[in-house]
Amino acid sequence: MKARRNSGALKLCGIIGYPLEFTLSPAMHNAAFESLGLEYVYLPFKVKEEYLKKAIDGMRALSIRGLNITIPHKVAALALLDELDPMAEKIGAVNTIVNSGGILKGYNTDAGGFLKALLDKGVEPRGKKIVMLGAGGASRAISFILAEKGASLVILNRGLGRAQELVGNIREIFGSKALALGLTGENLTEVLAGADILVNTASVGMTPHAGETLVPAELFKSGLLVYDIVYSPIKTRLLKDAEAAGAEIIPGLEMLVWQGASAFKLWTGQEAPVEVMRQAAIRERAGDEN
Ligand code: ATR
Repeated sequence: MKARRNSGALKLCGIIGYPLEFTLSPAMHNAAFESLGLEYVYLPFKVKEEYLKKAIDGMRALSIRGLNITIPHKVAALALLDELDPMAEKIGAVNTIVNSGGILKGYNTDAGGFLKALLDKGVEPRGKKIVMLGAGGASRAISFILAEKGASLVILNRGLGRAQELVGNIREIFGSKALALGLTGENLTEVLAGADILVNTASVGMTPHAGETLVPAELFKSGLLVYDIVYSPIKTRLLKDAEAAGAEIIPGLEMLVWQGASAFKLWTGQEAPVEVMRQAAIRERAGDEN
């Protein structure tokens, strides 16, 4: 069944952020709506910081069903909502809003999406030794969900203070095992020797710096799972080096697709057509690269 997309029943979703040129979310969600014949449409809205409150009020006024929130609004949006999912509240950032009759509830499907991609690969975080690179906003969302699921974490960051603060929060909120270290070759060598999973949350290796990596290739081994949240390029230098050494990999596009799938379910109440969303994101990415 094809959606008509022109009746009064049409529901609107979208993404707000700034800048927004390279978002893959409209392609993913519109393909998903279309494949299920849902009368929904998803649009990008470029919203500068000074207009965030007006945009959220506008969501209520225009009965926009759902929004994704991206850089730079994920933290500021939280205070403008009526209700928060407990994990979004702990993380202190939202990337998805659901509007139910004017009541706006915030979620963090970045965290849930990261986890879903891991589970989809057949990997349970409980009891795993996980090394994380980076201690920014993305690392906070991911380390919180991993801590909640019972993983033990080592967080390495260029700025040690930021990693120590994050580890302090993890211990306090989840009472779980976590350690902060500076991002040095010596520390990396030591912690990777005993690790099950390496997660890169730092923005290193992203287009236009696709050749860069934080991890010397000789530190990879088979038996390690390497998950890079960078999704441009789809296969980063880090993932290529890991794969060449026989390690398993998860590309960042998987986290993007699964966070989108979680948002889709929250807005529509239906299971997301994950493969449709993945293919739409890959097609759109290929278009960007041409
Ligand atoms: P995000 O929300 O994507 O996590 P962020 O909060 O700006 O973005 O955090 C970026 C992360 O990438 C940080 O951990 C940052 O390290 P610092 O806290 O030391 O700045 C890390 N990062 C960015 N560029 C880096 C580089 N060239 N080398 C090492 N780490 C880098």
